Amino acid sequence: MRLTTTKKELFDAIPRGFSVGFVPTMGALHSGHASLMKQARQENELLVASIFVNPLQFEALGDCDDYRHYPRDLDADIPLLEECGVDIVFAPSVAEMYPNDLPLVWVRTGAMGEKLEGASRPGHFDGVATVVSKLFNLVRPDRAYFGQKDAQQVAVIRRLVADLDIPVEIRAVPIIRGADGLAESSRNQRLSPTERTQALVLPRVLEKLKARAITIDAARAELATAPGVKLDHLEAVDPATLEPLAELTTPALVVAAIYVGPVRLIDNIEITT
Ligand code: PAJ
Repeated sequence: MRLTTTKKELFDAIPRGFSVGFVPTMGALHSGHASLMKQARQENELLVASIFVNPLQFEALGDCDDYRHYPRDLDADIPLLEECGVDIVFAPSVAEMYPNDLPLVWVRTGAMGEKLEGASRPGHFDGVATVVSKLFNLVRPDRAYFGQKDAQQVAVIRRLVADLDIPVEIRAVPIIRGADGLAESSRNQRLSPTERTQALVLPRVLEKLKARAITIDAARAELATAPGVKLDHLEAVDPATLEPLAELTTPALVVAAIYVGPVRLIDNIEITT
């Protein structure tokens, strides 16, 4: 495995004439990231992964505790990258990615980036779309892999490549969950054992919706009254456009976000029948 930290090193490290799979990440790698890399490994001759905590997609462009405290430990991430068969890792500094300080030209995600997660995190998806566009230009992958865990991110990236004619195939990979059902996330590290147990109401409620055992209103009520939990949103939306559905018609994506203690957790489920 080759570790690169500059754009030039990355460019020189990627031989041309091979199919390239790409997994962008912010590090603090866990089994969710590994699942993306394993699928990418199977489908491509070369596998590139990036680790970059992108200030643009955090509150106040990174001038916030969430950005400052985001776990960064490249040495701890290396074994998992090796195990997944990554050929080239790109782990640039902020100065390498944004040498002119913040970019003047951004990719705007419009209404799609302003709803749901974007309503609580203004500018977040513009920051994601901007950095992902830069990474696509640097890596020039044939296929790029994103987790269904961040369903809105997948939808936004699909629109990004369609609207800007970026020649990359976007592959969405199913959510990886812990044995207790909680979707894997770097943020889970910040949950106490009690909080983790309280958080399990989220996957439980989504499973009940999938089984059509409860209505959307009942699901909201259950989350709103669950101990230790603050409901941010739960919505049934069209999976491609993210437009709200008046009723639970299929196919639907039910997306939800809750706070458990200080930690914001998101999850979603696809309902096809
Ligand atoms: P990060 O949060 O590190 O996630 C990297 C990728 O791993 C994303 O595509 C995310 O959806 C996926 N992922 C995380 N947890 C997962 C799980 N439990 N199951 C399946 N996939 C999971 O998402 C980002 O970084 C950034 O926004 C990025 C795209 C790198 C741009 O900065």
